[in-house]
Amino acid sequence: MTNTFGHPYGQAPEHDHGQQHRPEVAPVATPAPIQTVSPHAPLQQPQEHQAPAQTHSFIPQQQDPYGPRFVTNRQEKHCRVICLSNQKGGVAKTTTTMNLGAALSEMGNRVLVIDLDPQSNLTMSFGIDVETLPKSIFDVLVHKYPIEHIIQTTPECDIAVASIDLAGAELALSSMIGRERALEKAISSVKNDYDYILIDTPPSLGLLTVNAFTASDEVIVPVQAEYLSLRGLVQLDNTLHVIREHLNPKVHIGGVLLTMYDGRTIHSREATELLEKTYGDKVMNTRIKKTIRLAEAPVQGSSVLTYESNGNAAAQYRALAQEVVARVEQAV
Ligand SMILES: Nc1ncnc2c1ncn2[C@@H]1O[C@H](COP(=O)(O)OP(=O)(O)O)[C@@H](O)[C@H]1O
Ligand SMILES: [Mg+2]
Repeated sequence: MTNTFGHPYGQAPEHDHGQQHRPEVAPVATPAPIQTVSPHAPLQQPQEHQAPAQTHSFIPQQQDPYGPRFVTNRQEKHCRVICLSNQKGGVAKTTTTMNLGAALSEMGNRVLVIDLDPQSNLTMSFGIDVETLPKSIFDVLVHKYPIEHIIQTTPECDIAVASIDLAGAELALSSMIGRERALEKAISSVKNDYDYILIDTPPSLGLLTVNAFTASDEVIVPVQAEYLSLRGLVQLDNTLHVIREHLNPKVHIGGVLLTMYDGRTIHSREATELLEKTYGDKVMNTRIKKTIRLAEAPVQGSSVLTYESNGNAAAQYRALAQEVVARVEQAV
């Protein structure tokens, strides 16, 4: 059985990201090039989570029960890990993860999106049948299964898939040592393969979201321009404060994104003013307007950039991708 994109379920996609065609790939046994310090290097990268060995080949990883894994040393652009989070449901976290991922990819970036929500909406949005997945991000977090083996390649970008068993992850992780760092550890082996990793989170501030915060450079908070939606941001801010103190000093709110925006109502204009007063220039210039196209696209298993490439929603997500890249470059 195959998924929408013709990948046999359970079989890891060829995980080369087209790199075998790139001239900069050095042949096996060629000494690693002298490494310069990247301007994109994260501020406080702990020693134990640094990039893997500087080789370009299939090398057997010692003590890896799952055999050889692909390791590269492409360093010219440092991977940026961005988490999409808001403990409120239905604010367009999943929609934004998919469409921002597709837009960043369209710009020429290598993009991985990670589904960290047991509802698996992101995985489903790519047209993947979650019922038949033999392994998912649950196995990665709980059983230390290599993330490479649950990444599927799609025409839009790569995706690390989730299924409903992820609902048991919080409980399974809760008794594990290093439970907050399971995702950070898991992605360390693929970070060199991507320019951007986007993480879609569940509507809660539980252990899965804490894992996402611990693994991320920054958080984008999709929010609706409604007074009650804004109140929840205080709680999210407090959680990030605790994460910064104990687990990941660099994580911060990189942007607050207005979604499902309808500037015609007085309430949404007032809520936007309040948001700008509180968060200043963290509020992103790009606003995603309300449109049924964003609900229709996942039914076809594609982003809105593919579904209606010339539409307003596609243009807004392209503008968002440009803004994210500009903000990231400003921040480093
Ligand atoms: N800009 C938008 N306009 C209209 N509907 C939207 C928009 N963005 C998302 N949606 C729809 O709203 C619902 C919730 O979005 P979703 O991305 O699943 O939110 P979350 O992941 O935060 O729970 C989905 O049905 C989605 O298709
Ligand atoms: Mg969601």
